[in-house]
Amino acid sequence: ATVGLDFAVADLSLAPFGRAEIRLAEHEMPGLMALRQEYGRTRPLRGARISGSLHMTVQTAVLIETLVILGAAVRWCSCNIFSTQDHAAAAVVVGPHGTAEQPQGVSVYAWKGETLPEYWWATENMLTWPDGAGPNMILDDGGDATQLVHRGVEYERNGAVPAERHGDSEEWRVTLGILRASLEASTDKWTKMAAGIRGVTEETTTGALRLRQLAATGELLFPAIDVNDAVTKSKFDNRYGIRHSLIDGINRGTDVLIGGKVAVVCGYGDVGKGAAESLRGQGARVVVTEIDPICALQAAMDGYEVRTLDQVIGSADIVITTTGNKDVVTVEHMARMKHQAVLGNVGHFDNEVDMAGLAGWTSVRRVVIKPQVDEWTFPDGHSIIVLSEGRLMNLGNATGHPSFVMSCSFTNQVLAQLELFANYEKHGRKVVRLSKRLDEKVARIHLAALGGSLTTLTADQAGYIGVDVDGPFKDEHYRY
Ligand code: NAI
Repeated sequence: ATVGLDFAVADLSLAPFGRAEIRLAEHEMPGLMALRQEYGRTRPLRGARISGSLHMTVQTAVLIETLVILGAAVRWCSCNIFSTQDHAAAAVVVGPHGTAEQPQGVSVYAWKGETLPEYWWATENMLTWPDGAGPNMILDDGGDATQLVHRGVEYERNGAVPAERHGDSEEWRVTLGILRASLEASTDKWTKMAAGIRGVTEETTTGALRLRQLAATGELLFPAIDVNDAVTKSKFDNRYGIRHSLIDGINRGTDVLIGGKVAVVCGYGDVGKGAAESLRGQGARVVVTEIDPICALQAAMDGYEVRTLDQVIGSADIVITTTGNKDVVTVEHMARMKHQAVLGNVGHFDNEVDMAGLAGWTSVRRVVIKPQVDEWTFPDGHSIIVLSEGRLMNLGNATGHPSFVMSCSFTNQVLAQLELFANYEKHGRKVVRLSKRLDEKVARIHLAALGGSLTTLTADQAGYIGVDVDGPFKDEHYRY
């Protein structure tokens, strides 16, 4: 029992609804349930103090409670201001056996519709353990928690973090402005915290990129496992997850008919492939933009037109960015879009679309249609509809990826936490991936749950293709 649990969520009375949806989700998350079976008795995460920053959804609730069942103490926040499902957050705070009056679950700092200062306040609280011990593990999505620890340490070492260090990043300038008071107030808080952290496991493409950048300059302070690049994560969640949740977000946000419309998907990586497929599934005429000739050729072979955004922006009814890059849709593009065309981003950060430029456009007018749906009207009278203020619209306008695919991702997350918590000393300050054997294990569990029957190699066949009968079945360079 937790006495005096600290937390900040929207409304604890939503917990019964959250608990009901968590119960349904558990059945759809066979990987996490298998880990509860396998490790629930030995509790190998005993002693782990995990600070987690990842969309506080129903699926994440099942992840959090799996970590607790495996022995961990956990604190949580969301990694996006719009992605929290308030009933899930409430249920996690109350816990399976607590009540709204006596919550017995996990300290969660998350609610739907945070401001940016609230977001960073929540992130800092998630990292600040009440007993002063600090986390010994981070579980991150997009790298904001990891970044805060690293910038905190830098502040304490140098007395400042030069803004120009991050180039022209508006996002970082805003963040730094918000964090400055807190960073300046600390003398050794972040340095002490970083010293106690065994490692971080990172959920998404953008966060993995930030980790590799830190490792390349020798700044990475602890080992990291890139969960995103497990095959059973990025080739499933990023692709099949977005295939489900992208049109869910468009539909809940706008209810506009997708069939027959021209939909532009910027980026044809894992997320872009799923996005294009889901829009085509609705009958849209899909156009892809790419900078990489290999991905562009894939799009062409898959039957999509490949164009530049400049060529198609004037005829697009729906524009979706999936690149993880910045400045992909500029305000000049927006000004050329059709009346009431829909613009949404599913890449990790909102700098993919130039929201600051839009807000600063002369005489532009914003009308809030409903939360996370804004109509922006240009001086000539035509308007565009922007979803979730340019932030992950599949989580802001809908509920993100469904449970089954998140079970693949989160099973990898738990395996990564187990690996780093036990073996952090072996890893060094590097970014590594989980073994292919574990990847195949995650796939096996989920294939069985779908009723698939796997063919078994004969010893003779295994010898012929040079693998073991029970795997791993592919070399590292294989791309699936
Ligand atoms: P990826 O690297 O597989 O794909 C990104 C693609 O965008 C690449 O093929 C790249 O060549 C292309 N690209 C880069 N700059 C471009 C530009 N200016 N114009 C056109 N194309 C450009 O990455 P992945 O895994 O598809 O992830 C993309 C983003 O989505 C990341 O920020 C990731 O964190 C995020 N993500 C979001 C999810 C969600 O639920 N909304 C789920 C998983 C990932």
